[in-house]
Amino acid sequence: MKPLNVLSVASEVFPIIKTGGLADVAGALPAALAREDVTVVTLVPGYPAVLKALQRSEVVHHYPSFFGGTANLLSGRAGGLDLFVIDAAHLFERPGSPYLAPNGKDWPDNARRFAALSRAAADIGQGLAPGFMPDIIHAHDWQAGLVPAYLSLTDSPRPGTIITIHNIAFQGIFPADLLFELGLPASTFTVDGVEYYGQIGFLKAGLQLADHITTVSPTYAKEIQTPEGGMGLDGLLRARSHVVSGILNGIDDKAWDPATDAHLARTYSRDHLEVRAVNKAALQKRLGLKQDPESMLFGVVSRLSEQKGLDLVLGSLARLLADGAQLALLGAGDKTLEDSFKTAGIVYPGQVGCFFGYDEALAHLIQGGSDALLVPSRFEPCGLTQLCAMRYGSVPIVSRVGGLADTIIDANEMAIAIGAATGFQFGPVALSPAIDAFERAKALWRDRSTWQRLQTNGMSADVSWRRPAKQYAGLYRSCRPT
Ligand code: ADP
Ligand code: GLC
Repeated sequence: MKPLNVLSVASEVFPIIKTGGLADVAGALPAALAREDVTVVTLVPGYPAVLKALQRSEVVHHYPSFFGGTANLLSGRAGGLDLFVIDAAHLFERPGSPYLAPNGKDWPDNARRFAALSRAAADIGQGLAPGFMPDIIHAHDWQAGLVPAYLSLTDSPRPGTIITIHNIAFQGIFPADLLFELGLPASTFTVDGVEYYGQIGFLKAGLQLADHITTVSPTYAKEIQTPEGGMGLDGLLRARSHVVSGILNGIDDKAWDPATDAHLARTYSRDHLEVRAVNKAALQKRLGLKQDPESMLFGVVSRLSEQKGLDLVLGSLARLLADGAQLALLGAGDKTLEDSFKTAGIVYPGQVGCFFGYDEALAHLIQGGSDALLVPSRFEPCGLTQLCAMRYGSVPIVSRVGGLADTIIDANEMAIAIGAATGFQFGPVALSPAIDAFERAKALWRDRSTWQRLQTNGMSADVSWRRPAKQYAGLYRSCRPT
């Protein structure tokens, strides 16, 4: 097969800078694609963490004037990845989150910051970087949405373009009067271009102009084409449905491997599930939970946001924690949700243990020490934590939406009988179906041999990037310009 060059364009990338699953995907996919004869270089903004991690860097191009200041395009390696980095202090030399100012609000110049990301990608697509000419540019989410718009301004040959929607709730919508500042001519401000209800829509532009659109699960690919799931973009997506597809995410099975995981109190494999008790005890200790192996321990690893449906966990706590069951929660985000879980910790001392903030090590310990992982999302494009849970023998309890519907096999009677079940699904996303699922899980947990079968089924499933990488490689080849 002919080797293929891909420029992946992402606003975050694991292990260098991460706020959510997008970073995991952008960080893990390149290695999996290398096995498919696809060479990936990833373009990321030069946040302080990126510049600090960058090794063997060299200046590929100097921009005397780039969105309000000078900039260098660097190439180098970091976190095991080949990178292009936009070194532009006026845009990216800021502490903390890639998107938010210290006051928790979006940086006021986010339009310019991420237009710059797309502009640099389009420039690379037109040969700016000596020695690397992409056949395909793969843009992730709204932050890279303008790539096809900038490429549409040229008549010269251009790479094929693919945009992946990781979350349609974030669309990058900005005032129309920024058009000129973003280097977009008036001719782009049409329904067929970047215009979106009188404003500039970054994601909209990408969806309108890219050669192909993917999202991160087949079910989400259908959901976003409905008025309920499309958040205003469903009409556009239906009109382009012939180029919309869903490719499930995988996880990095080296970073997430219970047999070698340094974040665990003790490593284990599916033949030694009894070792998980050591991790459960460590987790209980870490979060101030009662040291009791006989208490069923539910875990949550999540952004705290409306999307994740954690109000259903709060609403069902009395039932969930009956019989002395426990909840271990790791989360960051919404302060109101955080306060509610803090209160729950006071109301149920020794039964609810929380850590608020970002903690990679604790995320792994929760996967390795909890009995079941709760993912009751209102919508979930793919979801990665349920995949990690499967790999770690924590049984996922999920709502039947998006990628959760596509990855977890509900433990109904027949699925148990044929040995296929890997977790519990509930729907619709509401309190009473959620409680039913929690109760079903609690009942089955007491039947230890059936429970173990759920664990080993999950642990035997291939949740790696192998299969998805083949699908992406096939798609890239089909979108490559002839
Ligand atoms: P989303 O991208 O919507 O947040 P995903 O399930 O796709 O959801 O990905 C979440 C990723 O972030 C997973 O790798 C998960 O382990 C991690 N994660 C979420 N919250 C935290 C946290 N508070 N600390 C550490 N890791 C977290
Ligand atoms: C988004 C989605 C999540 C998905 C992740 C990676 O953050 O919310 O469901 O797994 O992107 O694609």
